[in-house]
Amino acid sequence: MYPIIRNRRLRQNAAIRALVQETQLSVNDFLVPLFVVEGQGVKEEILSMPGQYRMSLDQLQQEIKELHALHLKGVLLFAKADQKFKDNAGTEAFNENGLMQRAIKTVKQVCPEMLVFTDVALDPYSIYGHDGIVAAGKVLNDPTVEALCKMSVSHARAGADFVAPSDMMDGRVIQIRQALDAAGYEDVGILSYAAKYASAHYGPFRDALDSAPVAGEEIPRDKKTYQMDPANRKEALKEALMDQEEGADILMVKPGLAYLDIVRDLKNEIVLPIAVYQVSGEYAMIKAAAEKGWVEYEPIVLEQLLSFKRAGADIIATYFAKEVASLL
Ligand code: PBG
Repeated sequence: MYPIIRNRRLRQNAAIRALVQETQLSVNDFLVPLFVVEGQGVKEEILSMPGQYRMSLDQLQQEIKELHALHLKGVLLFAKADQKFKDNAGTEAFNENGLMQRAIKTVKQVCPEMLVFTDVALDPYSIYGHDGIVAAGKVLNDPTVEALCKMSVSHARAGADFVAPSDMMDGRVIQIRQALDAAGYEDVGILSYAAKYASAHYGPFRDALDSAPVAGEEIPRDKKTYQMDPANRKEALKEALMDQEEGADILMVKPGLAYLDIVRDLKNEIVLPIAVYQVSGEYAMIKAAAEKGWVEYEPIVLEQLLSFKRAGADIIATYFAKEVASLL
């Protein structure tokens, strides 16, 4: 008790603070989200995500070399499908020669050590911008899972190390696990977006991929029938326990900053590594405020990333990964 105990003793100088620091950031923590597009020599900046680009595969090669040189270990790939490839069944999602499949091969050709995580959900390929197949005003669960299984196997065949289902359909982890195993890909892992909320933080991402849900009769206007209600905490644990039992290798919480309580709950209750996704809207908010000079850019980025680790994240998917890797 005071005055015997003085907490400020351990904060007196940088050396002491470094010794007693409980949490550190490292390049080993990060997954780098990347957006790929068709074309040659394309590197277009995403308007609502300054410093992030849609890249054609030739540009992706250069990017992967740079990320590897910075000792980053893994990328999370998203493909922007041309409008002409979109339908209601997500057919293009499992085209063996589709953009995503070629992107995976490109990364592995340039840098076999770079871990490739692929987004598995139908939204970039859906004419309705939904993560699943739409019928009579609903997003169908089981037929969607069948498509996700084909999609996952095609990613594995192209060389993906992990598939990352972000769709929130029920039962997709076990089904994908069985499909991968049946195809001989028992070493390909599943990073499951176990607790993914119906969040207002995904706007810039949907700009990047042109994948926002479209308005129309008999089409759900939002993703609230499959993504989780931001009000719910116990439900995240239920989702996580089920995904763990279904054979997921890593569980993800998404978005990040507004959901640190969920990260901590999962860290305490689940034996798998826990990932968190600092999503596009979180990135955009920091960029915009820093651009206005209203917050200090570097310290705020590092503080938020550190807070993910303190909350319990083992892995952080973040658009700041490359920048921060060069700082660390
Ligand atoms: C697609 C998907 C989304 C994100 C990752 N995968 C968007 C959505 O669910 O609408 C969002 C990532 C971000 O905002 O950075 N299933």
